Amino acid sequence: MSETMKPVEQLTEAEAAAELARLAAEIAEHDRSYYAEDKPTISDAAYDALRLRNAAIESHFPELVRADSPSMRIGAEPTGAFAPVVHLRPMLSLDNLFTDEDVVDFIGSVRRFLAYPADRELVFTAEPKIDGLSMSLRYENRRLVTAATRGDGTTGENVTANIRTIGEIPQHLPADAPDLIEVRGEVYMRRDDFFALNQRMAETGQVFANPRNSAAGSLRQKDPAVTRSRPLKFFAYAWGETSEPLGETQYEVVQRFADWGFPVNDLMVRCRSVEEIMEHYRAIEAERAELPYDIDGVVYKVDRLDLQERLGFRSRSPRWATAHKFPAEKATTVLTDIDIQVGRTGALTPVARLHPVTVGGVVVTNATLHNEDYIRGIGNNGQPIREGRDIRIGDTVLVQRAGDVIPQILDVVLEKRPADAVPYVFPDRCPACNSHAVREEGEAVRRCTGGLICPAQAVERLRHFVSRNALDIEGLGEKQIEFFFNAEDPALRIRSPADIFTLKARQERSLTKLENIEGFGTVSVRKLFAAIDDKRQVEFSRFLFGLGIRHVGETNAKRLARHFLNFSVLRAAAENALVPTGKGDPGNAAWQELNGISGIGNVVAEAVVEFFAEEHNREVLDALLKEVTPLDEQPVGEVSSPVAGKTVVFTGALEKMSRDEAKAMAEKLGAKVAGSVSKKTDLVVAGPGAGSKLKQATELGIEVIDEDAWFERVAKG
Ligand code: IVH
Repeated sequence: MSETMKPVEQLTEAEAAAELARLAAEIAEHDRSYYAEDKPTISDAAYDALRLRNAAIESHFPELVRADSPSMRIGAEPTGAFAPVVHLRPMLSLDNLFTDEDVVDFIGSVRRFLAYPADRELVFTAEPKIDGLSMSLRYENRRLVTAATRGDGTTGENVTANIRTIGEIPQHLPADAPDLIEVRGEVYMRRDDFFALNQRMAETGQVFANPRNSAAGSLRQKDPAVTRSRPLKFFAYAWGETSEPLGETQYEVVQRFADWGFPVNDLMVRCRSVEEIMEHYRAIEAERAELPYDIDGVVYKVDRLDLQERLGFRSRSPRWATAHKFPAEKATTVLTDIDIQVGRTGALTPVARLHPVTVGGVVVTNATLHNEDYIRGIGNNGQPIREGRDIRIGDTVLVQRAGDVIPQILDVVLEKRPADAVPYVFPDRCPACNSHAVREEGEAVRRCTGGLICPAQAVERLRHFVSRNALDIEGLGEKQIEFFFNAEDPALRIRSPADIFTLKARQERSLTKLENIEGFGTVSVRKLFAAIDDKRQVEFSRFLFGLGIRHVGETNAKRLARHFLNFSVLRAAAENALVPTGKGDPGNAAWQELNGISGIGNVVAEAVVEFFAEEHNREVLDALLKEVTPLDEQPVGEVSSPVAGKTVVFTGALEKMSRDEAKAMAEKLGAKVAGSVSKKTDLVVAGPGAGSKLKQATELGIEVIDEDAWFERVAKG
């Protein structure tokens, strides 16, 4: 930084804006040298000084914070700075509940799943949900060996060196701890420590938005000495892999953690009824402001570990735990404009541009407006919302932000409506391609009918294809996709997924070189091509998800991949399932197979069939398959159990478990669960009252057993 730099207080607004623009460009350039080229051109201290200056100006002129500000990237620094760590037991997230009713439903669903009668006691633990970042601490032979962040749940980052600087995390465990254990919990910063740290750093300029960002930023330091100087803390509340069972209840295990020297939260209690749970929620909520650390809700967990085991997991979260969030934070600000975004499927989504406002410690400049009815004051069911008040540009609006959810506009302040404000007219043409945008009967969404000619949809489809949970091509972000999509030179243009993979060869034949174009350097171009080549072979389910077939999200893509194991087999099935109307044929074997996959219903099956029937999709796909090979999915049959690979039907009343639990259990053991009996059925589990399915099974000569025999059989696994 230059010595002639003006103190922030003396900057005029114009000077501040100019300096922020310069800093954004300069810091982005350094980030690129550091992350993309591994060639930092300035010292860490000089780099930090730039960020500090940026933060200082922003805190003085919050209305000047730029969309591309480096401070917006806190906590989301490009990955690659720390080595990856694979979590063999995934680090899951929790579902959120917001109302008392939700809590009653949650407890009801647990009881139903376990077929637990209403009069039988079911104990839950209740404890604060700490607003920090989750951490997995792996101890082998009672020594801390690895500390990893959650990352995407499956792969986190190795931050061991930094974690070792946190005094309250034990480096060694006592003799009664197992040989292998991953203790999990939350790294956080106390509010007073956060304020003191910000004050200390304000002299140099750096300010963190809130304690959580402060904890995350402190943990992601390249130099552990910096982390050591930051007052980080930890609460243990969960675990991952272990070499032996830890106890019988959640409560007991957490007490053991405390005995081993881990800090545990003293507000954790056991509750025996919905009433006790609600009471504890309100007690924690009442205490919230006085607590020395930030919390954003209360977590409930089924106490008994054998029941946790039976309840198991959905794709992202356990069935035995949930988070009951506190009401979201709110603020008012002015709605300066409404922009229309066009999604991958053509849906037009209105986005509110707001005068920047801090809501719960975070600067908010955009909020979703959902759809045109929402703006007009009409809810999903056609009934008025906000007592029918519409939302207009220029209105003062009430904004809500809940956790990581996109901010929402809740209401307008009519007294502050400018005299000249007019009702918003939702466009009936696509802002990107000018095609008609139509709203189908019974739908809230207006969609662009431009389909294949709409550039906005095409860009969104490409973005989806390279996104993190699809092909995950590093270096092809939003900006790059836009650039390649709009490139004038055909050698640089990317319009369909296959073009991504032919880019390098087209480049080599052309005179235009990517590395000569602003924003790309030799090293980043090399890395980009390497990242693309790296994805010439890709997991089946990621490939399928990336195609962006309607209703085929990650979970359904996995279901389809696990069933068909090979992409061509899936494609053949989808093509064979087709009848000339373009819809699936109910009497056709391929359709029945597709439709019979556990979790795949009519709507999804139809979307798959329609996708593969569409001529343009077939062309795009054929071109893509010349470049990319979807890898065969490995059969789940590796689960060795007496029912692995078998197709099982449950029928009649079950007495020891609910239908849902039976299904989840069978699937966990590698079996397929079908709803009806056919020649493909291997086993029928029949309880009292079984009727036609039992009869069919007997006629077809299929093995029939009762519930007790089922338990005996799977216990042998
Ligand atoms: S239990 C399998 N307990 O919330 C369940 N999580 O939204 C593991 N969190 O990633 C989580 N306080 O970072 C649990 N007392 C608490 C928690 C807590 C905060 C965080 C955690 C998790 C996230 C899920």
